[in-house]
Amino acid sequence: MTSSIPPPTKRAAWQALEAHYPKVRELHLRDLFAGDPKRGERLTAEAVGITFDYSKHRITDETLGLLLRLAEQSGLRDRIEAMFRGEKINVTEKRAVLHVALRAPKEQSIIVDGEDVVPQVHAVLDKMADFSTRVRRGEWKGHTGKPIRNVINIGIGGSDLGPVMAYEALRYYSRRDLTFRFVSNIDGTDFAEATRDLDAEETLFIISSKTFTTLETMTNAHTARDWALRTLKHPAAVARHFVAVSTNAEEVAKFGIDTANMFEFWDWVGGRYSMDSAIGLSTMIAIGPENFRAMLDGFHQMDEHFRTAPFERNLPALMGLLGLWYNNFFGAQTMAVLPYEQYLKRFPAYLQQLTMESNGKHVALDGTEVVYQTGPIYWGEPGTNGQHSFYQLFHQGTKLIPCDFIGFVQPLNPLGRHHDLLMANVFAQAEALAFGKTPQEVRAEGVPAWLAPHRTFEGNRPSSTILLERLTPTALGKLVALYEHSVFTQGVLWDIDSFDQWGVELGKALAARIIPELETGASRQLQHDSSTNALIRRYKRSREVSHGR
Ligand code: F6P
Repeated sequence: MTSSIPPPTKRAAWQALEAHYPKVRELHLRDLFAGDPKRGERLTAEAVGITFDYSKHRITDETLGLLLRLAEQSGLRDRIEAMFRGEKINVTEKRAVLHVALRAPKEQSIIVDGEDVVPQVHAVLDKMADFSTRVRRGEWKGHTGKPIRNVINIGIGGSDLGPVMAYEALRYYSRRDLTFRFVSNIDGTDFAEATRDLDAEETLFIISSKTFTTLETMTNAHTARDWALRTLKHPAAVARHFVAVSTNAEEVAKFGIDTANMFEFWDWVGGRYSMDSAIGLSTMIAIGPENFRAMLDGFHQMDEHFRTAPFERNLPALMGLLGLWYNNFFGAQTMAVLPYEQYLKRFPAYLQQLTMESNGKHVALDGTEVVYQTGPIYWGEPGTNGQHSFYQLFHQGTKLIPCDFIGFVQPLNPLGRHHDLLMANVFAQAEALAFGKTPQEVRAEGVPAWLAPHRTFEGNRPSSTILLERLTPTALGKLVALYEHSVFTQGVLWDIDSFDQWGVELGKALAARIIPELETGASRQLQHDSSTNALIRRYKRSREVSHGR
């Protein structure tokens, strides 16, 4: 697939960027702006209702040209087409990567293994809509005849982070008379706290797991069944209080959930790309089928933009290329995502799985060790909270941290001056990071010489500003798809498989080996390293003392 394309660092554009970087490293954003009064407008792209201002990046027109050439030389266009055509671009798992099919309109057709998957997607969406409507109308009754008032999604990773992020993001549109909770952690506290004030007779559990074998989810699911049956008594109650979202009907049936109450998805949907599949059932119950479809439409608009727009106006491509510029040339280790929208408080956590599970890879598609950096660390907090916490390091620390500022023109909760104050902070932070404050400016304010270095802001800290009109379901879909495709772009540029996650396996296997060692046989021979052996013994000893044994 990529065989005629040289490895990333051997591509002519990559090498040209290497030669170009030392020149750009010396340039200051102050000078770049001073030399081009129209830079702000020129380096802003608009598409599908999103304004993407990338003028505060340490780039020149030449940098941009080289990055765009790198995209061409990396075969990005063909790889996008291959994804949309349903080719098995997840090479290590031999799977198609078709989250874009989850939001394809009915009239589109996407063939996987000889079958059009779009009708299947819409059949599941219809089934979800029917079920959600019944729950929302109080028509779906619990075992004792009471309507459902509480919905608990049990899942982890992509089967949790998408649903919880979307629920929080779209809470404004959600049914306030229903309670939504999300249990993911195997730490019993998560389940205990989520259920402590709930009535089992009014509670519906959605067991969300692509594989239906994940330790955390299955443990929580069994605990949930025990918890529900303590009140509901009869095993038949499970059918009214448990539904499943999975690709694995066999395991769902084994757990005791009627497969009629199972919402299907497919192996060509990666966990971290699944919030718009049936994994979004809790989202649909919260916001209603119409809003859910509006969210899918937002995703689809961005998909079409990514697929068709020339790279110089293609938001995900530009975003991915800029990320690579800092990651591979400036040596930036992390990226901050800073939504100035309280409802997006879980967006950075969601993006961490999307970006880091996708692009945290050390070998190329052909299995050879990469000789360049791949995915950066993503992190962030909603503004303005982060400003009073870690922004100090952005402004005056020794690390370069490119930032994504995300803001909305219209508030969902207009309250006096709040929104203008919030947005003033978005604009001010990006401005302060880029332009800083020179020692001369500081001294001109009367700051004594000894204090001036502490009060100086070097500036030249890059950021993108992403502006949308209003946080609607459609806007959320666009925003998530923007990041999905930017991650894809980077995976192509780095020549890695962005759709597998083998790195999570070793820890799972070792935990499976340790579990029986903790649960049984005090005297059993431990065969780990001396540190792990000692920690296990210490834990068991202390546990026995605290159990009074
Ligand atoms: O931990 C890795 C992972 O496989 C994620 O990729 C996935 O989203 C999560 O576990 C949950 O998996 P499942 O939906 O199969 O329970």
